[in-house]
Amino acid sequence: MTAQLIDGNALSKQLRTQAAERAAVLKARGITPGLAVILVGDNAASQVYVRNKVKACEDNGLYSLLEKHEATLTEAALLARVEALNNDPSIHGILVQLPLPAHIDAQKVIEAISPLKDVDGFHIASAGALVTGMPGFWPCTPYGCMKMLESIGYDLKGKHAVVIGRSNIVGKPMALMLLQKNATVTICHSGTPDLKAMTLQADVIVAAVGKRNVLTADMVKPGAVVLDVGMNRNDEGKLCGDVDFAGVKEVASFITPVPGGVGPMTITMLLVNTLEAAERA
Ligand code: GUN
Repeated sequence: MTAQLIDGNALSKQLRTQAAERAAVLKARGITPGLAVILVGDNAASQVYVRNKVKACEDNGLYSLLEKHEATLTEAALLARVEALNNDPSIHGILVQLPLPAHIDAQKVIEAISPLKDVDGFHIASAGALVTGMPGFWPCTPYGCMKMLESIGYDLKGKHAVVIGRSNIVGKPMALMLLQKNATVTICHSGTPDLKAMTLQADVIVAAVGKRNVLTADMVKPGAVVLDVGMNRNDEGKLCGDVDFAGVKEVASFITPVPGGVGPMTITMLLVNTLEAAERA
């Protein structure tokens, strides 16, 4: 069996067109949805991510405010900027790019963002809303994964989903979203003694570890759906995920590639969350 690809670029394009339509409707009502992106320091990867986020806003009719600060910015100064943006009516979403320099307490900064503008979904109030099924912002990467499952018409009810990885940004919220759609969910991590025994039972596998070849063909039940959140480099320096794509695609029914899979969905869902914030405001 050769798996069908879930094309994150194509799905993103569709969803961004819908996002641009929502932005236009808001604009006609005199509201331009606005996202503030704060970058502290000169982390090379962060600079690329931030540039892509700003460009996605511009391309789809959202206003974006990019604030770049020196790595020496104090925590107090950053907290003051967040507070100012909380009170700025032209800004509906606030994103502080992570990682932050070591002298700044990232969690403290995230908690300073108004939950009404927490379009990253990292605030403890957003996490609580997800746990309890209340309205709130969902973290963009797992939210994008849910959209990918939706795009293939996949019904999670009665299915076993295995999430590999337990980060606050992907693994944990991913598990909660799958649970909300009535899957039976297992979270595996570095302390799981027999990962293969777990993944072989899975109808859906989400790999979100940040390590190559965490999931190989012998670990996948024939016909399973595999979502690869990993973003790694192979020995030739080429972008690759957590999944051994060449092997697993021969066993799975659907699989997301890297690049061109989950990656583009993250920014797309950021636009969706920002529009949601603007519509609620
Ligand atoms: N750093 C890497 N990914 C992300 C993300 O989704 N949001 C923020 N704020 N920082 C990140």
